[in-house]
Amino acid sequence: MPPLLEVRDLSAGYGQVPVLHEVSLTVSRLETVCVLGANGAGKSTLVNRIAGILRPSRGTIRFDGEDVTGLSPERLAAKGLSLVRQGRSVFPFMTVQENLDMGAYLLKDRRAVQERLETVFEMFPVLKERLGQRAGSMSGGEQKMLEIGRSLMLPLKLLMLDEPSLGLAPLVLETIFARIREFNERSGLTILLVEQNAFGALEISHRGYVLELGRVRLEGPSERLRTDPEVRERYLGAGAG
Ligand SMILES: Nc1ncnc2c1ncn2[C@@H]1O[C@H](COP(=O)(O)OP(=O)(O)O)[C@@H](O)[C@H]1O
Ligand SMILES: [Mg+2]
Repeated sequence: MPPLLEVRDLSAGYGQVPVLHEVSLTVSRLETVCVLGANGAGKSTLVNRIAGILRPSRGTIRFDGEDVTGLSPERLAAKGLSLVRQGRSVFPFMTVQENLDMGAYLLKDRRAVQERLETVFEMFPVLKERLGQRAGSMSGGEQKMLEIGRSLMLPLKLLMLDEPSLGLAPLVLETIFARIREFNERSGLTILLVEQNAFGALEISHRGYVLELGRVRLEGPSERLRTDPEVRERYLGAGAG
């Protein structure tokens, strides 16, 4: 069976400024794959490009057996590919319930929406307790859970997360990572996780890619990357040990 996501020789940039150089990566069904890299390495450019937010340039993107290069984010969402964008947020003046309903915009009947809601509550029970609360009044971690929950309101095959750890306390992050991992194992959701926080990302992923200046510099099983001297020195802050 071909991989769920297959990115081949993807180049992208802004205007005349190239950022990604022939990046290739695959994500197989049921995998959690991470993309690591320093600030500015091109991680967001890569996932925004995959999610259809940036305009097409060179390279191809295949998803679930189809060429989806150049499709809009809405078309991709309808096919089961969604991105929780870096630093983006919930609708602060809407309630938790209203935010989740927004995520279900493509679902026609109420029963399907209810089913998705149950799935989201299973992942983040706190959201169920907060349904009537204004999203903007929740903690950063809860808002991040809501954002992820909103993506899960559509039947997803691949969830991409762009730096979910940004601005979150380590303990909150641990909870979110643990839930992502559980969800991946239990519900068979495939995950592409972009992180500067290499430590947490390598802990919950099966495989990883290291992006440097818009190029794939290293790739392999997460276990191996965790012990790779270069990764340890540059991304895990363990150069001396
Ligand atoms: N909207 C934009 N316009 C122009 N340059 C951008 C834009 N977004 C990002 N860049 C540049 O592209 C490079 C990669 O950025 P980005 O993909 O955000 O990296 P990362 O997510 O790994 O931190 C950086 O040099 C950044 O300055
Ligand atoms: Mg980024």
